[in-house]
Amino acid sequence: MAETSTLPLKARKRSESTQTSPSDWASTAPKSKVTIGTTVQRYRSVRTLTELIAEPLTAEDQTVQSMPDASPTKWHRAHTTWFFETFLLAPNVAEYQNYADRYGYLFNSYYEAVGPRHARPARGMITRPGVAQITDYRRYVDDAVLRLLEQAEPNVAALVDLGLHHEQQHQELILTDIKHAFSLNPLQPVYAEAPPRSDRETPPTNWLSFEGGIHSVGHRGKDFAFDNEGPAHDELVRSFCIMDRPVNVGEYLNFIADDGYGRPEFWLSDGWATVRAAQWEAPSYWERDGRQWSVYTLYGPRPLAMNEPVCHVSYYEAAAYAAWAGKRLPTEFEWEVAARSARGIADWDDSIRAHPRPLAAGFVQDVWEWTASAYLPYPGFRQPDGAIGEYNGKFMVNQMVLRGRSCATPPGHQRPTYRNFFPPAARWQFSGFRLVEDA
Ligand SMILES: [Fe+2]
Repeated sequence: MAETSTLPLKARKRSESTQTSPSDWASTAPKSKVTIGTTVQRYRSVRTLTELIAEPLTAEDQTVQSMPDASPTKWHRAHTTWFFETFLLAPNVAEYQNYADRYGYLFNSYYEAVGPRHARPARGMITRPGVAQITDYRRYVDDAVLRLLEQAEPNVAALVDLGLHHEQQHQELILTDIKHAFSLNPLQPVYAEAPPRSDRETPPTNWLSFEGGIHSVGHRGKDFAFDNEGPAHDELVRSFCIMDRPVNVGEYLNFIADDGYGRPEFWLSDGWATVRAAQWEAPSYWERDGRQWSVYTLYGPRPLAMNEPVCHVSYYEAAAYAAWAGKRLPTEFEWEVAARSARGIADWDDSIRAHPRPLAAGFVQDVWEWTASAYLPYPGFRQPDGAIGEYNGKFMVNQMVLRGRSCATPPGHQRPTYRNFFPPAARWQFSGFRLVEDA
């Protein structure tokens, strides 16, 4: 985890315009250096970033839920606050008074040990509390957390850290979830002002080769990592060659032009059933008008850019492309071995952006990458005791691991051992892929 991070964010006043409501929060913004030194500083900067990300969104934007997988912005802001209230303040502050007793029911996500909760698909039905009330809730909890930290109890620092990394996960979800909601609006709202476009061609692909052998994988050391990144352990990895960058849009268009979505021989059985049922013909957010493709982005609708990494594809589409290309997807361990090597390590911990940049030199780019690995516990993994044990362990079935980071992953939340995971049909995250072949 990086100790210093650059957040190129400058919040813009809310605008209801659906045409051009530029938010200069991408790379064109003046850069303010935020040094994350102490827990207090880090607490303040992470909590502030959540509010900056939500700032361009109106109360109506923050209330809508476009599908069961996505949550309203307002819910994310409240749920991350509930997390601190429930797991940090209630057990550690004498006679702590919850901000509102019923919020536990509204803003518990999935913790069975904490009690019953409101149905996930109905989060968009909650018009009250409104956004102003949620802002007040956040301030109330912030004051209590900062008072607790003034007492400098070292035993709470780890819980604060977990709460902050949890909030950073939701920062990315705020962006992916509002993108999905906006994409369904015929007026195609603009969330952020696009930086100038680059026509720079993707550098030629290099295939990086790695010797087979026993490799150490997983998190070790004292920096923060989620429980699912450990224990560090040895894996047998056979010799392999891996692309030095993810697949780009231009390459993916060749798959579509070759009738990739219409040829079952490339698809896993479940993938083919999904493609047929959902009538997918391209990645999510792509639209064809005659021979021209456009794509909905948080910068608004744009012509496809050939030099960007292909994004918003499911595991099924990534696997079908790999079969079409005569290659395969990397296992999560092949990916980690490559990313941790001298050729992969230099590119970590970049700024947060609303859309992937064109591919440039460097191993890690602006999309999460599907791997061929099922999301399973590492050897020796033990779910922590108590409600917090529900954080990751109980989801280790029916999901695939994604590695890397995306444009929407906040700084200080990016590392080569990070294991993201989603069901194979999910495609509303900034998800792409790269290929490998056996050496
Ligand atoms: Fe959560």
